[in-house]
Amino acid sequence: MPTDLAIGIHDLSFSTTSLVLGHDELSRHNGTDIAKYHKGIGQRAMSVPTADEDIVTMAAAAAAPIVQRHTADRIRTLVLATETSIDQSKAAGIYVHSLLGLPPQVRVVEVKQACYGATAGLQFATALVHRDPAQQVLVIASDVSRYDLDSPGEATQGAAAAALLVSADPALIEIDRPSGLFTSDIMDFWRPNYRSTALVNGKESVTAYLEAVEGAWRDYNAQGGLPLEEFRAFCYHQPYTRMAFKAHRRLLEACGVQPDDAAVESAIAATTGYNETVGNSYTASMYLALAALLDSGSELTGQSLGLFSYGSGSVAEFLAGRLRPGYREHLRGDAHREAVSKRRAIDYGTYRELHERTLPTDGGWHDLPHQTQGPFRLAGLRDHQRIYETA
Ligand code: COA
Repeated sequence: MPTDLAIGIHDLSFSTTSLVLGHDELSRHNGTDIAKYHKGIGQRAMSVPTADEDIVTMAAAAAAPIVQRHTADRIRTLVLATETSIDQSKAAGIYVHSLLGLPPQVRVVEVKQACYGATAGLQFATALVHRDPAQQVLVIASDVSRYDLDSPGEATQGAAAAALLVSADPALIEIDRPSGLFTSDIMDFWRPNYRSTALVNGKESVTAYLEAVEGAWRDYNAQGGLPLEEFRAFCYHQPYTRMAFKAHRRLLEACGVQPDDAAVESAIAATTGYNETVGNSYTASMYLALAALLDSGSELTGQSLGLFSYGSGSVAEFLAGRLRPGYREHLRGDAHREAVSKRRAIDYGTYRELHERTLPTDGGWHDLPHQTQGPFRLAGLRDHQRIYETA
């Protein structure tokens, strides 16, 4: 077994919804000072799913360009991470497998640990590829974040899916072997099976996240990770983008470095462009931060990035990746910018209607209106089954 085999992210693509609600529209409704949204939490807009969009349609839309570019010939595993699952038993990835036309010789599983799940998927994928470097693993993070109307979390809602192709000799990022872990049994954010919106102790979740930054970093050091000064940039999980700035301050403090406002701004600013207009996409959020950094145009070849993934409840991991020579030729910046810019702006009333909408649970036959601009749609429900189609 080769020990120096480079394994990591070979391709990265994300998708989001067809609709967008601006925070200016939300603040007109609830009277909140817009500066609280734009500056206080660092959010400008949130992606809102149409009636025929969900985690499956977003996941398939994110992964389709990857399969198109690389074919499915070497993909033998599909891991879909979500905390807004659509079924207690069947993995959502099986619908995605079908929409993408993948062959039957693929194992498909769903993983869950709040916003952290996809990073577990990435690590499982690197282990599978290490076992058989000819194989590739498709890891997809897909979530719709929903909080109660008029709750503090409402302004941080969003939706997106990120797809990563993990392989040996990756075109984009080699994932280093050492990583730092931190798990703590806390109730900062959770969603019992009978609820469609999450319950959250917002302030406690911020404190827990920051403690996890420090805990995961200390373990990363203990595992022989790189020193702080070796990192060129940091991508943090972004439940709202200001959280990443707080996290980086905490990391610097943990390293005994006095955080300087300008230095923190410049370290994080390039990672927030997508998330500040998409909102919290839970499992996909850190990967949208990574996409924003890569698509920002900076030359990062050979440089190390710190990735911090956090899932309430809680599990966190700090890992490092190194940019591969020629990585910029494989990026999807134009497609990503288009996914964000082509969303149709909606007013507060339309948002509220969509937020209050629930799918029928009577087992009847229900067609859903064709509203998505995306390539896949949830066409309807039949006998308690979701029916998906190519749009
Ligand atoms: N102008 C500029 N900034 C303003 C402002 C204004 N008019 N009004 C408030 N702010 C700032 C606050 O000072 C605060 O900044 P700070 O975090 O640096 O102290 C920030 O905006 C948020 O204000 P706050 O009053 O704390 O917001 P909130 O009580 O409405 O809720 C969360 C904030 C994060 C707790 C809430 O969005 C939430 O529950 N989110 C879901 C859970 C979550 O995302 N957790 C994160 C870890 S996973």
